[in-house]
Amino acid sequence: MTADFVIERADLVATCAGPAPRRGAAQREITAVRGGSIAAYEGRIVFVGPADALERQVHIEPEAVRIDARGCTVVPGFVDAHTHLVYAGDRRDELRQRLEGATYGEIAAAGGGILRTVEATRAASEDDLVRAARPRLDDMAASGTTTCEVKSGYGLATEAEIRQLRAIRRLDAAHPIDLVPTFLGAHAVPAEYRSRSDDYAAVVIDEMIPKVAASGLAEWCDVFCEASAFTPAQSAAVLRAGTRAGLAPRIHADELAPSGGARVAAEVGARSADHLVFVDKEGAAALAAADVCAVLLPIAALYLKLGRYAPARMLIEGGVPVALGTDLNPGAGLSSSMPFAITLACFAMDMTLEEALVAATLNAAWSLDRAGTIGSLETGKLLDGVVVEGDPTDLVRVGGSAIRTVVKRGKVIYSR
Ligand code: NIG
Ligand code: FE
Repeated sequence: MTADFVIERADLVATCAGPAPRRGAAQREITAVRGGSIAAYEGRIVFVGPADALERQVHIEPEAVRIDARGCTVVPGFVDAHTHLVYAGDRRDELRQRLEGATYGEIAAAGGGILRTVEATRAASEDDLVRAARPRLDDMAASGTTTCEVKSGYGLATEAEIRQLRAIRRLDAAHPIDLVPTFLGAHAVPAEYRSRSDDYAAVVIDEMIPKVAASGLAEWCDVFCEASAFTPAQSAAVLRAGTRAGLAPRIHADELAPSGGARVAAEVGARSADHLVFVDKEGAAALAAADVCAVLLPIAALYLKLGRYAPARMLIEGGVPVALGTDLNPGAGLSSSMPFAITLACFAMDMTLEEALVAATLNAAWSLDRAGTIGSLETGKLLDGVVVEGDPTDLVRVGGSAIRTVVKRGKVIYSR
């Protein structure tokens, strides 16, 4: 066995190795190795184990990159399971409006919200979108993200949606973070279809989905199931059409109020139901029975001032695998930091640090159907990892970052 990249003598390696997804009591199994090293060859892990076994079992090439991880913890690269990374325009003023007491719904009714970003995104070129998103990806890399899901949904017309998806493909090729593309044509009802949401849903189903599927630019199909966006019946119809065209389903569910979204997720066999701030016990049971992953986005709940968070304990105890994402977006997703999502998972949603780590890595990878290649530090998978100064609790310290080095496919992509 030969290695061209080594991370050596970490105090702790939280490998998260083992079957995915993790649910119930297994959600907190991080499969830790104390005093561990990791070696990779051409981006793939060839060894994870006790530091003293490394030199015996692996031939380390003389020019290999060697990272001394004494005093550090190594965790798998973070997988951000839900973002709206690609957009144009600026809605930071909506934050101030919320601080004055306005709700998401009121801001949207007054001309803000998603439709404002749609106007700006429709006016932007593909180059503009790529240029605006690139520094956001650099920020994410510095926070330990090595794979991230990205949605369209600010075009809401066939060409504009495809332009967003093309920008995602270009960013994926140009940046070391791997992007997983999702078509979200059913993110909102555009202004020109106001009061005609059925007509717009028909355009998504009959025109957009076939074109997007034929373009090969998306893997998943998502829909915003919420009173202000699409009904459960419309959502199910869109997701079923996506499935028929080869776009696997995921859904924004029960974010601002109980929307019936969790039930739709179970009915159509979605891989994930996201947000779930208002999910109830029956909804959770439906998710568990249908093997749907809950992607929780506490950063959005915080910046939206919802006054509550998804019931993570109820979901975990009900047997639903829980993953995390940032929900990076111009309105309420003001942080692209997975460590911040982990912090809120622990201190606002009562998850343990181990549960949150699994949610941010292996389960998030599973939610994107990538658990075969990423999400844990085990032989055969890509070496995507984060070297954290100190112990896992240093990840939830806010202020100077504890992240020292971020590795993607066996290459350093960020180093402090
Ligand atoms: O996940 N809920 C719908 N989409 C985003 C918000 C997008 C926006 O406000 O631009 C979300 O919270
Ligand atoms: Fe979202």
